[in-house]
Amino acid sequence: MDIAVIGLGYVGCVSAACLAQMGHTIIGVDINETKVNMINDGLSPIIEKNLDSIVKDQVASGRLKATRDIDMAVSQSGIVFICVGTPSRANGSLNTEYIERVCIEIGRALAQKPDYCTVALRSTILPGIAESVVVPLLEEHSGKKAGADFGFALNPEFLREGSSVYDFYHPPKTIIGELDRKSSDVIASIYEGIDAPVFRLGLGEAAMVKYADNSFHAIKVAFANEIGRICKLYDIDSRMVMDVFTKDVKLNLSSCYLKPGFAFGGSCLPKDLRAIIHTANQNDIEVPLLKATIESNMKHIEHAL
Ligand SMILES: NC(=O)c1ccc[n+]([C@@H]2O[C@H](COP(=O)([O-])OP(=O)(O)OC[C@H]3O[C@@H](n4cnc5c(N)ncnc54)[C@H](O)[C@@H]3O)[C@@H](O)[C@H]2O)c1
Repeated sequence: MDIAVIGLGYVGCVSAACLAQMGHTIIGVDINETKVNMINDGLSPIIEKNLDSIVKDQVASGRLKATRDIDMAVSQSGIVFICVGTPSRANGSLNTEYIERVCIEIGRALAQKPDYCTVALRSTILPGIAESVVVPLLEEHSGKKAGADFGFALNPEFLREGSSVYDFYHPPKTIIGELDRKSSDVIASIYEGIDAPVFRLGLGEAAMVKYADNSFHAIKVAFANEIGRICKLYDIDSRMVMDVFTKDVKLNLSSCYLKPGFAFGGSCLPKDLRAIIHTANQNDIEVPLLKATIESNMKHIEHAL
């Protein structure tokens, strides 16, 4: 496939290089001239294991090049991946201005493009943004209808910095947020050689899965650190505790306790949580996540009443 990758940061650069290595013809687009020149010189603009040699080989093979000309890139491509940043504003809200700008430019390019093209958004966006911002901008500036005249899908990325090339080829899952079946078939076909379950979801669910994942990953880190602090208090080997904890794939690392619905209760969970928080408090150990768990449960009960 001929693919344009818009935004050559972490996600875009790894995606562009790996998609080229899979045999696709890639035009990467960035407003940053240095990144564009580096790629065309066969150099990776980001430091990531194995990426230098992939970029070098793929540029030499002619399957990977870069430009600042988004119009030209879209005109030559059957798929356009949007990989620009979605940073936080000062108040924590999601800044979608880079996405909005590229959607206007892609829309204008689509207006001039006679053949069908599928736009896929790799960047992380909150539920509702695809439907209220991204698709309307593409439609307004192309004069075309998404799902009919051009394709659209969400395709969030799950790579981790430091192992992103490995993660590209070994993702935990492939998520496709579906506007229509044809668009999602096009995106699914890209990942045919990759061994990972493919989940085709609604746009909202696809966007939300990414936030559920990242929220959970953050909670896992904070949880392990709070347990670690309590272990230290008792001179207990926290790594051994967490190692055994993670070996339990029936109740701990499983879908158990992960169904939205009822608050927790019964004779053990509230009592044991209170006891461990109390002992931490008495020894000046801060465990705000464990404390917040009780508060969250109370709020859930109030919400249900
Ligand atoms: N970094 C990660 O590990 C990671 C993992 C998964 C998902 N994500 C998500 O993927 C998205 C991209 O993240 P990133 O870390 O690659 O961002 P980044 O900031 O490293 O790269 C974004 C790139 O887009 C370019 N850009 C901005 N406006 C442009 C425009 N109008 N035209 C062309 N290029 C433009 C910038 O110059 C930059 O090179 C974000 O939504 C992020 O949340 C990131």
